Amino acid sequence: MPTQNSKPAVLLTRAIFPEIVERLRAHFEVESNPDDASWDAAELARRLQGKSGVFTTGVERMDAALLAQCPTLKICANMTVGYNNFDLDAMTAAGVLGTNAPDVLTETTADFGFALLLATARRISESERFLRAGRWQRWSYDMFSGAEVHGTTLGIIGMGRIGQAIARRGAMGFGMQVVYHNRSRLDAAVEARCQARYVGKEELLRCADHVMLVLPYSSAVHHTIGAAELTLMKPSATLINIARGGIVDDAALATALRTKRIAAAGLDVYEGEPRVHPDLLEVPNVVLTPHIASATPGTRRAMADVAVDNLIGYLVHGKAVTPLNSAALEALRHG
Ligand code: DGY
Repeated sequence: MPTQNSKPAVLLTRAIFPEIVERLRAHFEVESNPDDASWDAAELARRLQGKSGVFTTGVERMDAALLAQCPTLKICANMTVGYNNFDLDAMTAAGVLGTNAPDVLTETTADFGFALLLATARRISESERFLRAGRWQRWSYDMFSGAEVHGTTLGIIGMGRIGQAIARRGAMGFGMQVVYHNRSRLDAAVEARCQARYVGKEELLRCADHVMLVLPYSSAVHHTIGAAELTLMKPSATLINIARGGIVDDAALATALRTKRIAAAGLDVYEGEPRVHPDLLEVPNVVLTPHIASATPGTRRAMADVAVDNLIGYLVHGKAVTPLNSAALEALRHG
């Protein structure tokens, strides 16, 4: 426990940029994880003893069982925009603030969504594997013929900041017709800026040449794309998931790819990652990347800086920068 003059103690769950550790050390007693060891929930709880804050990377589960063991904890600061590792109700009940890192990764992640779309539609990984295996003997007119991207219809499910950035790339960079589906329809001005038209989910799945998933995960959107939805898609369509594992039924997708129910998929996230469904590893028409959509040094550093800003903001100055449940915490305190 910090004495009156000592710094609050925080835990860094994973290895991170040395400059980030230094920033934290200027304000806190820091327990870090320089070896990047994997901690299970029991180890995490043990290391959280006496800590006021924790810097998390979007995968550490913060639920009632863990929080009950960590009475000194006041804030969990994710360096990711996604926060499905937080049980926010349990955190509020335990008096713990959750924060995430929105905005700083929007454009980088949208770039990656487009890279994955292009790689998938134009069969980049598949053709490179062919070449590296020494199988390229001569040019032929239909070798690795892929799907058009420019001028086609892009369907975006989840039209938050990243979805909107992808829509702009599609409409303005590639002359695509953009349709989107979202929990709620965007303002007309935002729709106009993105050149995107709101449609129902079924219409989107039927009309899109390329379907891009960018929605946040919650149990309500588990298997938003399963066997039934894949059946609605064009046989020539591609499916791109840069959102979260669990939004797609990976087993059903592997079957749809194997049977050519849809043409191809590009995946950056998986159910139960880092495990990847074995059937996905067997099908050629899928591009697989290990959850790297935001991975550039500048963006990852900016994301980590937001988490540090939140820890300093809340534990030193009493106000976080990007709080998730501050209103609920206030209501609880004054209710
Ligand atoms: C996020 O910020 O949620 C990304 O998925 C992490 O890379």
